[in-house]
Amino acid sequence: MTTPKKLFIKTYGCQMNVYDSERMAEALGGQGYVETATPDDADMILLNTCHIREKAAEKVYSELGRFKGLKADNPDLKIGVAGCVAQAEGGEIMRRQPLVDLVVGPQSYHRLPEMESKVRSGNKALDTDFPEEDKFERLKNRPKAKRGPTAFLTVQEGCDKFCAFCVVPYTRGAEVSRPASRIIDEARDLVERGVREITLLGQNVNAYHGSGPDGSDYTLAKLIWDLDKVDGLERIRFTTSHPNDMSDDLIEAHGSCSKLMPYLHLPVQSGSNRILKRMNRSHTAESYLRLIERIRSVRPDILMSGDFIVGFPEETEDDFQATLDLVKEVKYGYAYSFKYSTRPGTPAAERAQVDPAAADERLQRLQALITLQQREIQGNMVGRSVKVLFEKPGRQAGQMGGKSEYLHAVHVAEADVSVGDIKDVRIISAGSNSLAGELI
Ligand code: SAH
Ligand code: SF4
Ligand code: F3S
Repeated sequence: MTTPKKLFIKTYGCQMNVYDSERMAEALGGQGYVETATPDDADMILLNTCHIREKAAEKVYSELGRFKGLKADNPDLKIGVAGCVAQAEGGEIMRRQPLVDLVVGPQSYHRLPEMESKVRSGNKALDTDFPEEDKFERLKNRPKAKRGPTAFLTVQEGCDKFCAFCVVPYTRGAEVSRPASRIIDEARDLVERGVREITLLGQNVNAYHGSGPDGSDYTLAKLIWDLDKVDGLERIRFTTSHPNDMSDDLIEAHGSCSKLMPYLHLPVQSGSNRILKRMNRSHTAESYLRLIERIRSVRPDILMSGDFIVGFPEETEDDFQATLDLVKEVKYGYAYSFKYSTRPGTPAAERAQVDPAAADERLQRLQALITLQQREIQGNMVGRSVKVLFEKPGRQAGQMGGKSEYLHAVHVAEADVSVGDIKDVRIISAGSNSLAGELI
């Protein structure tokens, strides 16, 4: 018997990369690899990378540099770069860092087994195509390992929106939706392996338009209703959505589908219509606010989350004030804010940049407001009862941690529960990052 080779994967970026890393590990499983938790004893290291901001992309090169010693100790070690930096920079990565043996884009990782054989025989391998074949179909025959209670499931990939700041349409390509029946089969398989909550993923998940089981055009809402019928699946979430694709049937599902959790990540990026227009977002602050009103009218307790960019080219103090006003109006349970990062090849990269010190200062003000709101909303949870899906033991002995419907992290001391249980919990106190509760 041959001893298994060890694979170390490090994942950066969004949840889609997390899902992709799982698929890559499975694809290489067929080549005799098992995953290892450290790079030190690995036979192959894969960095699954993110290109969204400059810092994210630069991190990859500093990380690669650190593997020099490992490669000197073990000449058989192979190093690969996957994900969005691989797609954006391709062969340039091997020129800049000759340690790298393999570069694979997000649409080509079903070809990893062939690429692995190539690098094992001493060659370099590069594939950043957007092939015609369905990579998910090729990756289907995976081992039936037991899973934790939550899982990601990619239903849609790519983006046709071309926001002026964003690399995703270039790194992930055009929008493609998977057929509904394959997604439902995959969900059933996950449930058989212990999964109780599935988060449907897509760069633009609510633009999902895959073919339905009967050949008709499906929407995300229709897909959610089909998943609602999967026995043993208790919770459905989806991310990330674009405001323009929040269709009527999806809003209605938030009011009537009990498995669909009351949490919605709906990025707006800015509260200034002038900036939104320059960002090519094709919605206004007012249309976004009206949309949230409609969603809250069917699901009043829904917890909203969002993304913001500050310091986008030509953003003035007035524009930034409009963003603060919008945040105050929406009251986000969670929000993620980023300083604008110039991405080569995107339209906004050519425009007049905001003074970085001013952008830093705005980011701090926005983050302070967001933290305040977040704390207030968490504080308001005290005394309320929620349902918690327990995911893992907590840091203290006897403690168990999980997530509420609203995606708040909740921990319970001396909890007589198992991983995967969903229990009623009363919230007794709110910390800065999590809530404490007791079983009811
Ligand atoms: N598809 C999702 C988000 C993709 S990227 C959507 O449309 O909402 C995740 C977040 O990164 C974005 O929402 C945006 O806030 C941020 N982001 C994207 N490009 C950026 C850039 N060039 N500089 C700073 N933040 C950026
Ligand atoms: Fe990027 Fe805009 Fe597409 Fe989101 S909708 S992935 S921000 S281009
Ligand atoms: Fe990053 Fe690519 Fe996701 S750029 S955010 S890993 S789609």
